[in-house]
Amino acid sequence: MNEPTGPPGRWRPARRDVLRGAAAVATFLAVDVAAFLAANNWIGPALLTPRAFLDVFNNAFGRHPGYRTNHAKGVCVAGWFDSNGNGAELSRAAVFALGRTPVLGRFSAAGGNPHTADTSAAGRGLGLAFGFPGTQQWRTAMLNLPVFPDDSPQSMYDRLVATAIVAGTGKPDPAAMTRFYAAHPPAARAMAILKQRPPTPGFADSVFSGLNAFYFVNQSGVRTPVRWKLTPLQQALPPTSGPDALFDPLVRQLRAGPLRWRLVLTIGTPDDPTHDATLLWPGDRRTIDAGVLNLDSVQPEAKGNARDINFDPLVLPPGIEPSDDPLLSARSAVYAASFRRRAGENTL
Ligand code: HEM
Repeated sequence: MNEPTGPPGRWRPARRDVLRGAAAVATFLAVDVAAFLAANNWIGPALLTPRAFLDVFNNAFGRHPGYRTNHAKGVCVAGWFDSNGNGAELSRAAVFALGRTPVLGRFSAAGGNPHTADTSAAGRGLGLAFGFPGTQQWRTAMLNLPVFPDDSPQSMYDRLVATAIVAGTGKPDPAAMTRFYAAHPPAARAMAILKQRPPTPGFADSVFSGLNAFYFVNQSGVRTPVRWKLTPLQQALPPTSGPDALFDPLVRQLRAGPLRWRLVLTIGTPDDPTHDATLLWPGDRRTIDAGVLNLDSVQPEAKGNARDINFDPLVLPPGIEPSDDPLLSARSAVYAASFRRRAGENTL
């Protein structure tokens, strides 16, 4: 691609690059073009760019053409969401009306190496696209964590710099991580929460949380701060011993029948933080059971399936709106840059 390399700085891609990237997109075209355009804007107060993020991920995990820059290892799934209609109290999005919506998705392991061996300590992701492309589509990428480790794009960037492999030792510098936590108190606070709540052993028994707050808007125009999560309705098969110790049992379970998660909407109060995904909301907040996600088909990544979807968290239907969380626009811009690059490399 023709994007400039080098240190972070303000970046405006050439128009022909945007057009070339758009031409490579076979599916989900309309919404993804919007995501490409989002990549033209800058991410946050510091001079970070989408390209700087791609470089720092590549520095930490290596460059693997055609794969996602983060969450590179994954499998594609499909299924449906059965809404019970309860979510319509909060949002006028079609997905919350009583009825069934088709879903495409992707389970993933955090990190930029698609050949990494599974460990239960590594973050697990689930990206979902509810409904067909168009103005009513809802995309979300969730993690098996109760809070996100970073409160800002800068913190995430600095973490990736700190975890870079040091030439000579082949390992990250432990002192760099200590310095990182000293410089980022919200990240240190989030790490303390994550240590208290260790992950479950597998994919099928994971709680997947959206982590960022959003606003739901109902038919009467009432705006409510909401966070969502998927709570599992099954146990996971035990991990196997090979490099795909967590993906193998997931695939076996999906082939045996649908895996199911309940979609739970947590309603914030006006005082609950919407701008900081490292902060938990109090445990007594009201929740709404909005229905059940069913996933019943699994495929390796291939042309035309979820390999070619950008699970941009700002692809939202009318009835769901972004909050003031700075991670959201950063994610949107970086995912678009990663998508554009890998789409151009995936010729098959
Ligand atoms: C500044 C913060 C973040 C950055 C820079 C970042 C970066 C990335 C990148 C580059 C990708 C690959 C995108 C692609 O090629 O399609 C990705 C994927 C992903 N991210 Fe993030 N991320 C951030 C925050 C988050 C948060 C807060 C969550 C969860 C709430 C999250 C969950 C995921 C998941 C599940 C995927 C895989 C989705 C898929 O299968 O396509 N990320 N992230």
